[in-house]
Amino acid sequence: MALMAEKRLTRARALPLGHPMLDHLKANNRAWAAAKVAADAGFFKRLEGQQAPQYLWIGCADSRVPANEIVGLDPGELFVHRNVANLAPPQDANYLSVLQFAVDVIKVKHIMVVGHYGCGGIAAAVDGQRRGLVDHWLHPIREVFSDNRAELESIPDDRLRLDRLCELNVLRQVRNVASDVFVQDAWARGQPITVHGWVYSLSNGLVKDLNVTVDRP
Ligand code: CO
Repeated sequence: MALMAEKRLTRARALPLGHPMLDHLKANNRAWAAAKVAADAGFFKRLEGQQAPQYLWIGCADSRVPANEIVGLDPGELFVHRNVANLAPPQDANYLSVLQFAVDVIKVKHIMVVGHYGCGGIAAAVDGQRRGLVDHWLHPIREVFSDNRAELESIPDDRLRLDRLCELNVLRQVRNVASDVFVQDAWARGQPITVHGWVYSLSNGLVKDLNVTVDRP
């Protein structure tokens, strides 16, 4: 019955020939779920009950920076917010909702802002080309650039200058997170939260701690 219904549905959609049905991804998904259950029969049942991750990851949307994979964490262990160039803008309702939920409801112990070297968003912010809406999104990075102009312009190599801007951007976002009222209020009521600034290297897969950790007002 289910199969017949599925066939009818497939026909009814009348997709153009050659339209990718992403069958390989669905097959991957079935294999992944089966492997999880084979290794731990109660895996999904447990997660269904609740999520209680200790960490909030604020990272770039870049496909080469898969949050869970990099730090070897399973589903249920990492609360993730990703956007272009790992920003934490204090007026962005999406980021703020994630932050408040992570702090007030899930009560994560650690928040890591994770930039990455070779970030296209960082490069696009300062290359002078017009792209449209994303130019507005990337505006905070141009502010970071102008606040650190002397240091950045003293770096002659383009790539190294952008890498430094990636780091300075993480610093700024760590400051945004740590100064946010949700985090400040949590600290005021004695809730432990530590905010970290990391940069991930695409070339070797390693995370570098920028040592800008904040754990109090
Ligand atoms: Co990026």
